[in-house]
Amino acid sequence: MSNESPLIQSMRTAVAAAPADVPLRLHLAELLLGEGLGEAAVAEAAVALQHAPGDAAARALMMRAMGLPAPADDKAEKAEEPPKAEEPEQPAAHRPSTGFDWAAAENEVAGAVPPRFVAPAPAAGPGATAPEAPLAADGSGDPGNAAAWEVDAPGTVTLADVGGMEEIKERLEAAFLAPMRNPELGRLYGKSLRGGLLMYGPPGCGKTFIARAVAGELGASFMSVSINDVLDMWMGNSERNMHEVFETARRQAPCVLFLDEVDALGAKRSRMQHGGMRNTVNQLLTELDGVGGANEGVFVLAATNVPWDVDIALRRPGRLDRTLLVLPPDAPAREAILRYHLRDRPIESVDLGKLVKVTEDLSGADLAHVCESASERALLDSTRTGVVRMINMKDLLGAAKEVRPSTDPWFASARNVAMFANEGGMYDELLAYLKRKRKL
Ligand SMILES: Nc1ncnc2c1ncn2[C@@H]1O[C@H](COP(=O)(O)OP(=O)(O)OP(=O)(O)O)[C@@H](O)[C@H]1O
Ligand SMILES: [Mg+2]
Repeated sequence: MSNESPLIQSMRTAVAAAPADVPLRLHLAELLLGEGLGEAAVAEAAVALQHAPGDAAARALMMRAMGLPAPADDKAEKAEEPPKAEEPEQPAAHRPSTGFDWAAAENEVAGAVPPRFVAPAPAAGPGATAPEAPLAADGSGDPGNAAAWEVDAPGTVTLADVGGMEEIKERLEAAFLAPMRNPELGRLYGKSLRGGLLMYGPPGCGKTFIARAVAGELGASFMSVSINDVLDMWMGNSERNMHEVFETARRQAPCVLFLDEVDALGAKRSRMQHGGMRNTVNQLLTELDGVGGANEGVFVLAATNVPWDVDIALRRPGRLDRTLLVLPPDAPAREAILRYHLRDRPIESVDLGKLVKVTEDLSGADLAHVCESASERALLDSTRTGVVRMINMKDLLGAAKEVRPSTDPWFASARNVAMFANEGGMYDELLAYLKRKRKL
């Protein structure tokens, strides 16, 4: 919201104080639209419509905010455009009649417009996190340029923003956070606290999100580096720059250094691809060991979708020796994720409990997709009929039905590894899950 003008911010305060004041809210929506904030305008117009279903000005504004033609005729192709509003027009309420059939439209939403959720809505879901930003490498391949590695200042996302997943939170607390928060304990255990935690699991289930939350929890800055980028960017130079990555993190301490795709250093692939991979692995090991307390305040978290490809040397005690399985979101996590992705959309009568039930096994990314395609359905419908309508349960259920869990292929391969190559019990957690899910 920081990019909103002071006027809009004041209007927001006013609207918050008088949530049922429709003209006031429409005024806010109009301002948002004028600044090109189409989506935010849609959200406000939607609330206005909930308070005043028949309000012509609210409807007209909604249609403009959604990028729909005001009259439902000859301008079909224009309706394809995404919601936007460059040219601030005169307020909708004062516009001349456009020939839109308000009577018919009013019939459509006769009676009260239903509330957004069927049950009273508890506190907001996952914190206002921007979708995972492409951190680090920009592909420009400037060797040795530390600025290529972006570090985020301490953020506001904490474990409280991670919906559900209680087991993971407990394990993080016990295995990682408590010792880090308590330096006495750290000294007592000394060496055994060195190294980092390796998160693994199917794609799109929250590894990166959790890493960011851990940083927030520790009040540390966050640096996300994909090992694939390290290798691509600096081929032949990866050792020096692996060092550069750690140096950047050390300068920013306290800092959570998130190494994504650590499998890229996998011993199996390395022999085929890069002869020098061994050296890169060794460099990473040296950095992880950190001579003379160099890593004070640097917390290493690593992640992979293919733990069986992670170089075995990296898994030795004192290195990435602790593993954490990050599974598809459980029910409370799904609720938090759905709530988050629906937060700014014009919805009505959404039964979150039911939606949570029918979305079992979907990943966080799948859930985002469900919300996205439900909106598309409603928008398409509105375009086709010329009558604006909210996103409803039918859209969401329909969208959910079409999405296959993107984690299925992952479980198919993980199953074999867990069953036949469970060295040192590394995959016990995964086996237990597969058994519970009857996937064994
Ligand atoms: N428990 C949760 N609570 C709230 N949001 C979640 C939760 N789990 C996942 N998400 C959301 O799901 C999305 C996908 O998560 P994320 O990108 O962290 O997955 P990932 O495991 O890192 O995936 P990949 O393996 O593809 O890198 C994120 O936008 C995140 O906000
Ligand atoms: Mg990720």
